[in-house]
Parts: sequence; structure tokens; C-alpha cells
Amino acid sequence: MPAPIHDLVIRNGTVATASDVFRADVAVRKGVISAIGMALPPGREEIDARGKLVLPGGIDSHTHIEQLSAGGIMNADTFETATAAAAFGGTTTVISFAAQHKGMSLRKVVDDYAALAERGAMIDYAFHMIVSDPTEATLTKDLPALIAEGHSSIKLFMTYDKLKVEDETLLDVLSVARENRALVCVHAENHGMIAWMSRKLLAAGQTAPKYHAVSHPRGSETEAFTRLITAAAMVDQPIMIFHVSTAEGAAIVGDARRQGLKVFAETCPQYLFLTAADLDRPGLEGAKWMCSPPPRDRSDQEALWQALALGDLQTVSSDHAPYRYDASGKLSGGPGSTFKQIANGLPGLETRMPLMFDAMVSRRRPEFSGRALQAFVNITATQPAHIYNLAGKGSIAIGYDADIAIWDPKARVTLTDELMVGRSGYTPFAGRTVRGWPETVLSRGRVVVRDRTVSGRAGGGRHIARAGGWAAEPARR
Ligand code: URP
Ligand code: ZN
Ligand code: ZN
Repeated sequence: MPAPIHDLVIRNGTVATASDVFRADVAVRKGVISAIGMALPPGREEIDARGKLVLPGGIDSHTHIEQLSAGGIMNADTFETATAAAAFGGTTTVISFAAQHKGMSLRKVVDDYAALAERGAMIDYAFHMIVSDPTEATLTKDLPALIAEGHSSIKLFMTYDKLKVEDETLLDVLSVARENRALVCVHAENHGMIAWMSRKLLAAGQTAPKYHAVSHPRGSETEAFTRLITAAAMVDQPIMIFHVSTAEGAAIVGDARRQGLKVFAETCPQYLFLTAADLDRPGLEGAKWMCSPPPRDRSDQEALWQALALGDLQTVSSDHAPYRYDASGKLSGGPGSTFKQIANGLPGLETRMPLMFDAMVSRRRPEFSGRALQAFVNITATQPAHIYNLAGKGSIAIGYDADIAIWDPKARVTLTDELMVGRSGYTPFAGRTVRGWPETVLSRGRVVVRDRTVSGRAGGGRHIARAGGWAAEPARR
């Protein structure tokens, strides 16, 4: 008998891509998909996927890992625990942040995060560079060099005292990005409106976590989106608007796109499945649901689903920003903390894919009728790979990385704090039962989750160097 040519064959499964669903075996050789077809020859290893779905691993393009918040609080997850959580939930690539704080050299920041990820990551990863101190050296030396080295996206904040850029510096960074072909991702909320509302609420003694939602008026999103889109159009620079939370925000993005502007946008499970009412809990408990922007209303959820189906929003990321509900995280300001003293962010790496699968495929959200599985793959894997230029990722195709999640579409799993692999100690989605779960997950052909148990190795992931690609090309209107 000749030696098997494939290292692994995933046999008898139903394969889905962003365009098709079909029965096929999928073979892997040297970490890459080497054949797709019926009755492939035996592999050195075989996985029986009868009754299962063979899908591209998820790409989570907005995750905060091992990151120090502006308030000096460390995320609960390391690269090892975050990527274990990601893999457990069917995600095989993450884009996290190299976060510059004021006074820091961007070059050193990127080197430091790269060293942490190289040691810890179990799955492949890339970085967005957070620029909060756009000095001459950052703009003229570090950014062009780092973009050329494959860090082709920049993240800016229009709010948060210690991170925000003003309009003039926003334009500086947008034009440096244009010259060097990087995508600019933005947390767009009007800082003054949030600061003013917060001051008024605190003065009135309204300090509980639920007032965090009140302190981020809907208009802070729409005003910042409009200002940002206008600035980006002025210098003809493509942008990605992070975590769209309101119906009006999604409409502004859709209008901009229909004018031919290169505006991309994402939303997150917290805006599709939670509402501001989730923050209304006794004592400080609501802190576990505090993120920025805050979850809104049911009508916003519906509008965001429609915007996803229309393509006005292209991706759903987790915005994983995990803090424990104790003195190391959410409660670092002590038991009397006001909402202003509580770190913003939710854990979400391991629940993003199952929540989306459950809503789109199992419960058949009507917007995707007839193409639910393809739309799920598109939103959670193919589109992020395309927009962030992650070559060889986000689909099941010959020559692509064997980043594959084998889903049991019938598995019923109740999300609980105890089930979570990440270190935040809780999930804001606890108590929901989802149908469909990624039982086995491969990262470049290596099994990183087998039968729902993480088996990946810290340091097994690789950095993906990316040029800006199609999304970062100016529209030249
Ligand atoms: O509340 C959030 N989203 N925290 C993480 C940082 C950010 O704003 O994206
Ligand atoms: Zn943000
Ligand atoms: Zn974020």
C-alpha cells in the first residue's frame, strides 16, 4: 500500500462556504486544504463528520487580549486563555490590539504584544495598532514602517479621556493611512455628549451600572459616525466603524455606502442579543453587562439584523474585552464604584460563533432565509478575511489554510459561567440554550479542540502579516 498522500481526511460531512453548501470529504496536507471531493483516498488520520457541518473556522476581527485598559486595568485573558476560548467557540483567527498609550513608542508597543502573542497564541492572529499618541515619530516613522511590515490596520478612539484623538489628529492619521494603504478602524462616539451626560447623572446620584447606558446617548453614535465619515471622505480614506449599536448608526453607514464611500462596519453579539435592560441589576451586578457603546433596545437589534442581511454591516466581532467581576477587574474601584469607575467590556470570544449559528441557522432569522448557512459563514469568517486581507483564511477551498470547525448542528448547549474557558469567570449570555456547537476545531490542520475539549498548544498560532489589500485602497471618487 502506498503511504497516504493526505495527513487528514474529514469524511462524509456537509461543507459550507459563503456561496455553497455541498456534501464532500475535505483533505488536509501540511496544514493546507489539499483536496475536496467525494470518496477521497485515506488520510494518515481520519475524522468522521457524518451528520456534521464542515465550516471555515471563525475570524474574530475585534478582540482585546492581554491589553491594559486606559484606566490601567489588565484584561482577564492572556493570549493563551483567549485563544483557547476562541478555539473552543469555533474561532481560528483573532485580530487583537497593540495598544499605544500616551508617551509610548508604537514600535515598542507592537514588539511587546507580538512577543506575548508568539508565546501564548494557540491559533493564528494579527494586530490592529491602537494609536492614541500620534506624535511626529508615530506618524512619519513608526506607522509607515509597521504597516509595511504587515500591520495594515489602525484603531482610533473618538472617546475615552486617555485614548481619544481630536478631529485634526484624526485627519492626520487618516491621511497617513491613505499614503501607506492601511484600513482605519474607529470607536466612534461623541466624547463631549458622554462626558456631559455622565457629569449630570453622577451629580444627581445616579451612579449604578444601568446609568452607563443612559450616559451614552444614541446621538453620540450618530454624531460621531457622521463626523468620522465626513473626515474620511475628505481625505478619501477607507474606514471600518466598530461596534455599531443603534438603528440610526446602521442607517448612516448604509447611506454612506450607497454614496460610494468606502465605509465598512461591524456589530457584535451584545447589540444583537442584549439590551440596556440587562444592565439593570441589584448592586453592581450590572457591571458584568457594561460595554461601550452599551446594548440598546429590541428595535435596534432588529435593525442591526436587517443591516447585516443587506450588507450594510459586513461582520460580527466579539469585541472581547474581559474583566473579572472582582477587584482585579470590574470592581477595581471598590464596592462603592460609580458606573464611571467600572471597566467597560464583555467577554465574548467563545460565545460569538455559537450565538450567531443558533440565531441564523438553527432559529432561522428570517432575513437570511434560504441562505442561512452561507450567510453565517460569510459574516463570521469570509467577510472578515476579505476586509482585513487575511490571505488563505475564511473559506473551505483548496490551498486555503485548514482552519476548520466541525459543527454538530443538533447539539444543544446551555451557556453557563462554568462552561467558559476564558478567564473572566462569567458570560453575559449565561442561561441561553443554543443549538449547534463546534465539536472539533482545526488550526492549520492541527486539532486544537477535540470533542469540545481544548487540545491546542500555547505558541502554536502564527502571526499573519497583512498588506492593506482591497479594503484599504482609496475609492478615488
Ligand atoms: O466596552 C468596550 N467595548 N471595551 C473595549 C474597548 C472598546 O471600546 O472597544
Ligand atoms: Zn470600542
Ligand atoms: Zn473594542
